[in-house]
Amino acid sequence: MKKLWGSRFEKSTSKLADQFSFSISYDKRLAKYDVLGSMAHAAMLGKRGIIDKKDAAKIVSGLKTIGAKIEKGTFRFDAKAEDIHTNIQTELKKLIGPAADKLHTARSRNDQIALDVKMYCLAELTEILDLTVGLQKSVLKFAEKNVDVIIPAYTHLQAAQVVVLAHHMLAYVEMLERDKGRLMDSFMRTDAMPLGSCALSGTSLPTDRNFVAKQLGFLQVTRNSIDSVSDRDFLVETLSALAMMGMHFSRMAEDFIIWSTSEFNFINIDWSLCTGSSIMPHKKNPDILELVRGETGTLYNNLNRVLVLVKGLPLTYNRDLQLDKPPLFESVDKVKLILQLLTNLFETLKVKRDILTKRIQDESFFTVDLMEYLIKKGVSYRDAHDTIGKMVKDCLDKGQKISGLSKQELKKYSEKFEMDALKLLNAETSVRIKKSFGSTSPELVKEQIKGWKKALGA
Ligand code: ARG
Repeated sequence: MKKLWGSRFEKSTSKLADQFSFSISYDKRLAKYDVLGSMAHAAMLGKRGIIDKKDAAKIVSGLKTIGAKIEKGTFRFDAKAEDIHTNIQTELKKLIGPAADKLHTARSRNDQIALDVKMYCLAELTEILDLTVGLQKSVLKFAEKNVDVIIPAYTHLQAAQVVVLAHHMLAYVEMLERDKGRLMDSFMRTDAMPLGSCALSGTSLPTDRNFVAKQLGFLQVTRNSIDSVSDRDFLVETLSALAMMGMHFSRMAEDFIIWSTSEFNFINIDWSLCTGSSIMPHKKNPDILELVRGETGTLYNNLNRVLVLVKGLPLTYNRDLQLDKPPLFESVDKVKLILQLLTNLFETLKVKRDILTKRIQDESFFTVDLMEYLIKKGVSYRDAHDTIGKMVKDCLDKGQKISGLSKQELKKYSEKFEMDALKLLNAETSVRIKKSFGSTSPELVKEQIKGWKKALGA
């Protein structure tokens, strides 16, 4: 296929050079945005009298035809085209003839690719935001369905204290809310229209960049033509937000992987998200969650790829920048899939209430509550810690339950103890007496659920 730049070249590029440099195999994903951008550009050229109005109309209508084919999936991408810009330009010429040659007036592929990728990012960020809200809603629904369930919570993966399951679930909702904030941040800074910056310096032709921005729904135009064709911050920011989401996905996945083991046995992951073993017939493996955890590496890697790619590039455009797209596309695709899979997970997840009820009988979960009992009676934190520490050690040594201690035995540890201290030794009380804002008290958690439902329109 004829190159957009071939006229001053003494010979054509080698087959290997083409094979190495062509981007059509992946930037064809930008086709829709390339067409929309060109339509707005052509309309502007006509309106400003830079090209003939009739030619502009011809271009727009030709692009419309191409756009419809792309939308329907019937557009035939040409592997011999250098990139998506060349492919569409050539197709347009076939369709409308010489008028097509006027489309590339007052622009370059440098600002064109920046525009295409920005439009792609804006559309995908919007979709990812929607999917994230969907996931938050399904977490919330799961939390509400199991609002009376109490679970052990861990530090260092050692059993620590009991919490309301819904409280743990709302931690995920918080994480996802911050993820949305980062996506929106990224959206906001991406939302500036670069087309019309041309190769790097702008143009002497009387263009109207604001018109193009308005047509394409951008909030503003970029202010500096050099920055416009060089900047890939917006893409790095998106990849960074997606990498952080991956970090959260993998932590959620890990919680559920652990909880689904026969050792923990707190939950049942739906069959539809597990696979079996080819040799051990009894196995039900949480492969999907393991892959969610694993793909986090991909998301980090893609961020790193573009950071390294852009580092040290001299202003302005350099062809290296072409390589920003495969990692971007991959991360966007992965995150969208994971968001849907995790939504399915929460919709189908079952809690093993009987097992949890048994597990939270362990009195060592309530040692902090006993400490606070003494603190409320004027004992210092340090002394309370020592006292309860001794008590726990003795009980463990003797294989005795704390709740089985007599009044005299209790008094031996601290004069401040009365028998009512033993009423603290159960999970329901332990969560109920928490008071601080943000704590696991069921009342406070229910309030939080209410707030989230309102905020998410659930
Ligand atoms: N395929 C190129 C990219 O993705 C498009 C811009 C090419 N510009 C150039 N001057 N060679 O970045």
